Amino acid sequence: MKHMYDCYELNNGVRIPCIGFGTYKATDGNGEETIKTALEAGYRYFDTAAFYENEEEIGRAVRDSGIKREEIFLSSKVWKCDMGAERTKASFEESLRRLGTDYLDMYLIHWPRPDLDTREWKKLLTETWKAMEELYREGRVRAIGVSNFLPHHLEVLSDVSDILPAADQIEFHPGYTQELTVDYCKRKGILVQAWSPLGRMRVLKHPLLLELSEKYQVSPAQLCIRYALERGVLPLPKASSYERMKQNQEVFGFEISGEDMLRIGTMPPAGWSGEHPDFERVRF
Ligand code: A2P
Repeated sequence: MKHMYDCYELNNGVRIPCIGFGTYKATDGNGEETIKTALEAGYRYFDTAAFYENEEEIGRAVRDSGIKREEIFLSSKVWKCDMGAERTKASFEESLRRLGTDYLDMYLIHWPRPDLDTREWKKLLTETWKAMEELYREGRVRAIGVSNFLPHHLEVLSDVSDILPAADQIEFHPGYTQELTVDYCKRKGILVQAWSPLGRMRVLKHPLLLELSEKYQVSPAQLCIRYALERGVLPLPKASSYERMKQNQEVFGFEISGEDMLRIGTMPPAGWSGEHPDFERVRF
């Protein structure tokens, strides 16, 4: 990748910009303005979700920008409580309505199970995936995928479906790289996307990142984003100022050496959000 408009190719041939703009809580307070600023800063790929409650603002900002719809990559997600065949389809329609568009570039299942008490989660997940497949076959969405899925959740889908998810969006940053899941996805041709590629700032002060940021003369945030790209992972950084939005794209002028990639990949656990699909959230 040489530029943020360079693309990864998904397993169905659809091209996706190699850096996207993450919008969870990035739009708190002043959503439309943040997205307008991100558009001005050059972002063309916006990752949202019904749960983020910012689809309307993203839709308005995109429309007002005058940029053609086909030049923007829009991705959203179906929330836990809307799993199941009918609810998934209804939720998709609602997302389209709020975003003010008639198709999505990508649609993801936000979490593999609605909660820890739902015993029939595999059945519910299968129904949800079947609904996603229908939307895909009908041409309503260009690619379908998942988020926060671990290999055993992905196996549920491969047992019942010929269509593999195009992407799995997981927490991924130095200090929390989920190697088993990344490795599984690589083998199956599923693109890994990184939410919280900066570890929500928790890892930016880690001594290793500070040392390497001095060595490469870049910020720790730029190191994190470059690290994801060099792993073949698609980072979705969020930022509230134009300067940081720009800085997070300026990651193509340096390369992390093989040794430093290994040092980052083997650093002690750091910055985990506390979220895991199979366990209660851990609060720090
Ligand atoms: P802010 O919103 O004040 O710009 P993540 O994407 O890992 O969840 O991290 C998001 C956090 O990282 C946000 O709080 C954002 O702060 C901060 N952030 C984004 N870009 C940078 C940067 N280049 N340097 C430092 N912090 C950043």
